[in-house]
Amino acid sequence: MTDLLLAIETSCDETAAAVVGDDLVVRSSVVASQIDLHAPFGGVVPELASRAHVELITSIVEQALADAGIAGTDLSAIAVTSGPGLVGALLVGISAAKALALGWGVPLVSVNHLEGHLASVYLSETDVPFPHTALLVSGGHCMLTRALAPGTYTLLGETVDDSIGEAYDKVARYLGLGYPGGPVLDRLAATGVDNLNFPRPMMTEGYVFSFSGLKTAVVNYVRKTPDFIIEDVAASFVAACMDVLITKIRRALDEYGDAAIAVVGGVAASPILRARAQELADEYGSTLLIPPQSLATDNAAMIGIAGWQKFAAHGESDRRFGPQPDLRLTYTSS
Ligand code: KG4
Ligand code: ZN
Repeated sequence: MTDLLLAIETSCDETAAAVVGDDLVVRSSVVASQIDLHAPFGGVVPELASRAHVELITSIVEQALADAGIAGTDLSAIAVTSGPGLVGALLVGISAAKALALGWGVPLVSVNHLEGHLASVYLSETDVPFPHTALLVSGGHCMLTRALAPGTYTLLGETVDDSIGEAYDKVARYLGLGYPGGPVLDRLAATGVDNLNFPRPMMTEGYVFSFSGLKTAVVNYVRKTPDFIIEDVAASFVAACMDVLITKIRRALDEYGDAAIAVVGGVAASPILRARAQELADEYGSTLLIPPQSLATDNAAMIGIAGWQKFAAHGESDRRFGPQPDLRLTYTSS
């Protein structure tokens, strides 16, 4: 019989719960987005996020159990995101998970949100090859890693300033396009032309990323050009981002020769990035591992996958853990 795990994710502005089997098959996944709540402010307001999580968490967990057709007492474990993220938002999910684990008498596993994103490749591919080169691009992070085994990574490089999602969101806010910026910039970019020659920061420098200068270049151009064409600004900005990301993955493939590429994190929802990554994979004859578009952004299903993998390797977590807003991935040195 399959053991079932309840996963909870509240690190930022999505209240999410999922039921995942130890066969890594997702039985249910519920995501309540707070986008409408934060949109008027052009970004996530931490205190509002925490309060919304408090209001939503019980019903979202109930919905995930109902969708899976089970009761809490049918569960074998609970997994919850412990960081990185907003401290108050994380605290809501952790408190709920601890209370439920105590009430139902099941083990509790703390999960690193970044490991969740990296494990999201299992949401579209059961047979994940290792090692693979993994690009994690989200609102909070931009890093290139090599996944050597489930839960075991080496870091190739990361951003020295903004994450890519942050750059998208800041450019979108400057252009008055609302929050989050990724989807709307992508949509505009699809009908624009890459003709503005924006910089491709740190293209030639190893595996380090930087997006702050690109963001400033876009803002300066818009400020100096009253009759700018917004589609072309979007297309030129997105093309610059994509060229950087693809160049860094290509460099890693040339250096390490991995047979598979993973692209994960909220920006992996971008149809433009998905297409560019597929082109690269085709060129190298490698497999592209990428979550379904709807599960690239924050969700609890990916926390459930990472939760099972961590539980299998390390057993349950010491329950004294609390929110870890700056939690990093643990890397092996080789
Ligand atoms: O992974 P995620 O949901 O949250 C974090 O862990 O940060 O990523 C959110 C980020 C936001 O910056 C958002 O603008 C971006 O993912 N994003 C996209 C798209 N959908 C969401 N970026 C580009 N294209 C998209 N379609
Ligand atoms: Zn995320």
